[in-house]
Amino acid sequence: MSVFITGTGTEIGKTLVSCALIHQRRARGEDVDAIKPLVSGFDPRAVEGSDPAELLTALGRPVDADTLARVSPFRFRAPLSPDSAAAREGRSVDLEALVEAVTHRTTVRPTLVEGAGGLMVPLVGRHTVLDWIKATGLKVVMVTSGALGTLSHTLCAYEALSRAGVETTGLVVSSSGDDPMPLEESIATLARYLPDEVMVPIPRISGIQPWRRAPDLTALWP
Ligand SMILES: Nc1ncnc2c1ncn2[C@@H]1O[C@H](COP(=O)(O)OP(=O)(O)OP(=O)(O)O)[C@@H](O)[C@H]1O
Ligand SMILES: [Mg+2]
Repeated sequence: MSVFITGTGTEIGKTLVSCALIHQRRARGEDVDAIKPLVSGFDPRAVEGSDPAELLTALGRPVDADTLARVSPFRFRAPLSPDSAAAREGRSVDLEALVEAVTHRTTVRPTLVEGAGGLMVPLVGRHTVLDWIKATGLKVVMVTSGALGTLSHTLCAYEALSRAGVETTGLVVSSSGDDPMPLEESIATLARYLPDEVMVPIPRISGIQPWRRAPDLTALWP
């Protein structure tokens, strides 16, 4: 099956979780694909370390103009929400094209789709990432951090998913490096409200490409 990686916000570990999942499934000899169709804050002169470059590295593919265009067909320069980043270039986000980019790929191979920013980031008009997810019909891996304030963000995100009828495969709580309480305590709290959810903590991992040393997340991408 294919999964959609979303989160309670930006810069909280979606790409880390995505690369870890790709890496772990490839290590088991599985043939998987990944896309991050929509990227804002993309600087074509500083590709290294960008989300598409990291995903390509985890997939074991070279990073060049063709592979970047294939993994991330819609790239915008400004580090803003996609609607505003697109407007800066006189463009707009094409939700139908985003859905098509996902379904085109997920019908071929098990594919991991990384969204953009948080669950309700504006895309176009009154549509958000949540509408994009719903239109793909994929299940979600929800990523949140251990930082102060994210318990509320996480429960809000689950309310929105449940109202939209979108299912999840599980929740990852990734350490922010400055968590006010142990990740296990955050998970125990969240489990009171989400008793059936699979939850996996990721401690702070040092060094480059931390996804190579993440705990086993494969239960979240069955
Ligand atoms: N548990 C962790 N250990 C070490 N580094 C982490 C951890 N969680 C997140 N990071 C680091 O924090 C930064 C932001 O994470 P990441 O790029 O995965 O966020 P994101 O949610 O994908 O952001 P975006 O919305 O821009 O796509 C990265 O440098 C990532 O490696
Ligand atoms: Mg990312």
